[in-house]
Amino acid sequence: MGNVIASTISIFYSCIDDAPCVPLYSIYTEKGIITMLKIIISGSSGHMGRTVAELALNDRELTISAGFDVDAQKLYNFPVYAAPREFSGAADVVVDFSTPSALGDLLSYCLERKIPLVLCTTGYSDNDLHAIHKAAETLPVFRSGNMSLGINLLADLVKRSCAVLGLSFDVEVAERHHRRKVDAPSGTALMLADAAREALPYEPEYIHERQSRREARQSHEIGISAVRGGTIVGEHEVIFAGYDEVIELKHTAFSRDIFAVGALRAAKFMAGVRNPGLYDMRDVLNSAE
Ligand SMILES: NC(=O)c1ccc[n+]([C@@H]2O[C@H](COP(=O)([O-])OP(=O)(O)OC[C@H]3O[C@@H](n4cnc5c(N)ncnc54)[C@H](O)[C@@H]3O)[C@@H](O)[C@H]2O)c1
Repeated sequence: MGNVIASTISIFYSCIDDAPCVPLYSIYTEKGIITMLKIIISGSSGHMGRTVAELALNDRELTISAGFDVDAQKLYNFPVYAAPREFSGAADVVVDFSTPSALGDLLSYCLERKIPLVLCTTGYSDNDLHAIHKAAETLPVFRSGNMSLGINLLADLVKRSCAVLGLSFDVEVAERHHRRKVDAPSGTALMLADAAREALPYEPEYIHERQSRREARQSHEIGISAVRGGTIVGEHEVIFAGYDEVIELKHTAFSRDIFAVGALRAAKFMAGVRNPGLYDMRDVLNSAE
């Protein structure tokens, strides 16, 4: 007799009036098992961590196993641990909105337990990025400097614009964020510059400040500037300045919810991924097509 996998699956249906019944707590994994995804939120006491928690608590497909945060406050109905190693319970995926200093422990935790990791934190150093790539050789790892659908579409439009405009337009990226943001330029500004780089017919040099350069702008430059103030959630503008004409592509975020929605969408996608590798929002969006 072959192996028999015994499992008890409870599916509840919500039936309201004449509307079709909606299954609660149902999500298909690669193995076809219907289950409620168990997520861990890293940085759970922070602004984004709390936004993710509030959305996840209202999501029928998700349950929050734990939070990780050096500021281990119990704000919601799930336990919060100061360090990942303190939590030995089950989880299907970890969503991280914390700081680059959390990376080492998180990677060790996820590698040891083979739990896919969704990295939404920005400001990683080259060493951090190297560690992320190394981990992705054996673990499914998702990383995106911006989780919003609109920004990912903007990156695509930037790429297409650069392919058409080529050498004849100067490319500049400008971003504005709230006064609390510590890294500059934003991960998204770099992501947009990288999108331009992929399509431009030259290797651009990123210029972060012009004060010390007393010289005219060179055509191979991409200027990246950052403004910080107040409570601005996030604005990103890509400017194509040509001879007597300018094209501006701009995205404005009005609330953090858009990032949290994208992060949970990525979490659901990554929980079903078994192949190691580095994934990003394009994989999530393509999977929906
Ligand atoms: N990818 C995106 O779309 C996106 C969107 C918004 C914010 N972010 C990034 O997410 C990160 C968090 O943003 P925020 O506004 O919530 O910041 P925040 O300062 O409000 O929250 C960060 C949280 O991380 C915790 N923390 C600090 N060090 C830690 C460690 N070593 N281990 C575990 N937790 C630790 C802090 O205590 C805090 O609760 C930032 O890097 C930000 O740029 C990314």
